[in-house]
Amino acid sequence: MSNEIKIHPEIIYPDVAINLYKPNNPVEVPVVENRLATLEVSPNIIRHITLDVSGTGLEGNIRSGQSIGCIPEGFTERDGKPAKVRLYSVSSPSRGEDGKPNLVSVTVKRVIEEDHDTNNLFLGLCSNYLSNLTPGDKLKVTGPSGKRFVLPENAGDFNYVFFATGTGVAPYRGMISDLLENGFENQVALIFGSPYRTDLLYYDLFRELSVRHDNFHYLTSISREGTRPDGTKPYVQYQLLDSREVLQPIVSQKNTLIYVCGLKGMELGLFQVMAREGYLDYLRIDDEIRDKPPSEWVVDDLKKRIRPSERLFVEVY
Ligand SMILES: Cc1cc2nc3c(=O)[nH]c(=O)nc-3n(C[C@H](O)[C@H](O)[C@H](O)COP(=O)(O)OP(=O)(O)OC[C@H]3O[C@@H](n4cnc5c(N)ncnc54)[C@H](O)[C@@H]3O)c2cc1C
Ligand SMILES: NC(=O)c1ccc[n+]([C@@H]2O[C@H](COP(=O)([O-])OP(=O)(O)OC[C@H]3O[C@@H](n4cnc5c(N)ncnc54)[C@H](OP(=O)(O)O)[C@@H]3O)[C@@H](O)[C@H]2O)c1
Repeated sequence: MSNEIKIHPEIIYPDVAINLYKPNNPVEVPVVENRLATLEVSPNIIRHITLDVSGTGLEGNIRSGQSIGCIPEGFTERDGKPAKVRLYSVSSPSRGEDGKPNLVSVTVKRVIEEDHDTNNLFLGLCSNYLSNLTPGDKLKVTGPSGKRFVLPENAGDFNYVFFATGTGVAPYRGMISDLLENGFENQVALIFGSPYRTDLLYYDLFRELSVRHDNFHYLTSISREGTRPDGTKPYVQYQLLDSREVLQPIVSQKNTLIYVCGLKGMELGLFQVMAREGYLDYLRIDDEIRDKPPSEWVVDDLKKRIRPSERLFVEVY
């Protein structure tokens, strides 16, 4: 590592546009592309959907790390009320999909579940509505929303470690592209977790970036195709142990920021491994819990007693 920084630089938070369009005044835009985001067909159907926001306030005003709201127009919720807005992380870079500021993409997983009480098939309302759209169809959107996941204004002062499970990788597609396509010289690692290899999202893109950029490290954690030697599933947090030679030199730098996005359940296990590995700068641990071994932490502790420090950004749902 070239950047031996002992004190981390101040994070300069950028000014970003927020809520230009709200649920009571959404903007209607056409879909221009809807394709699979996986290389192969997978039981987990995840689609890359691109919208043309030309001539709207969204054009050039969405930063990667933000989300947009999508409204399944004409549908109703289970209680009979009009369908509400759902948020989707923007997966295009800040300069727009393919460098075009009028093109904005999202990465949508079809929610297909079985209701175990009734044995009935349940299809998520908005995710399936979006996945069924074809080029030329119109969609009502809101946003942009969120600012905490937007890269700092002084992005080049930091290294980045991005942890993702499933569609949690969506914001990183744009963020990593923003960094690497702008001559970024520090270190970036992406640790992506999915059930099977067929669920690897944007595999081609990340592989190609890792070949082209020595400072980009792409690690995958496939949870259902094998176990670790101790019998645990190869979840993303264990890359801190299993790929220590890659990650330790980055995570232990004072100018490294960690981002976590995806399943709510990933937070506890990741925090436990981080604490066990001594990466305590990323966590604010209350005194009352300081003597409790990380292995005994429970989800309830995360609510009040173990929070992210200013170098850790978490968006899990
Ligand atoms: C900030 C943010 C960013 C997000 N980014 C993304 C993203 O990039 N990509 C993405 O795919 N998702 C993302 N999401 C999730 C997304 O907003 C939606 O929640 C998701 O797509 C499901 O919406 P839906 O309308 O398809 O499902 P809904 O119809 O809202 O159902 C949601 C859940 O309710 C339960 N449920 C409801 N009705 C029934 C029933 N009758 N029987 C059984 N179960 C039922 C199911 O567990 C189901 O999974 C994000 C969420 C947030 C908050
Ligand atoms: N901005 C945001 O906040 C944002 C953006 C995008 C997505 N999301 C959310 O991210 C979630 C992604 O779900 P998905 O269905 O796309 O994921 P998925 O394809 O099911 O992949 C999730 C992976 O994480 C593993 N996993 C399960 N529990 C874990 C744990 N405790 N710790 C670490 N890894 C764990 C799973 O393993 P096993 O299943 O084998 O156990 C699986 O390999 C959704 O809930 C979505 O709403 C949030």
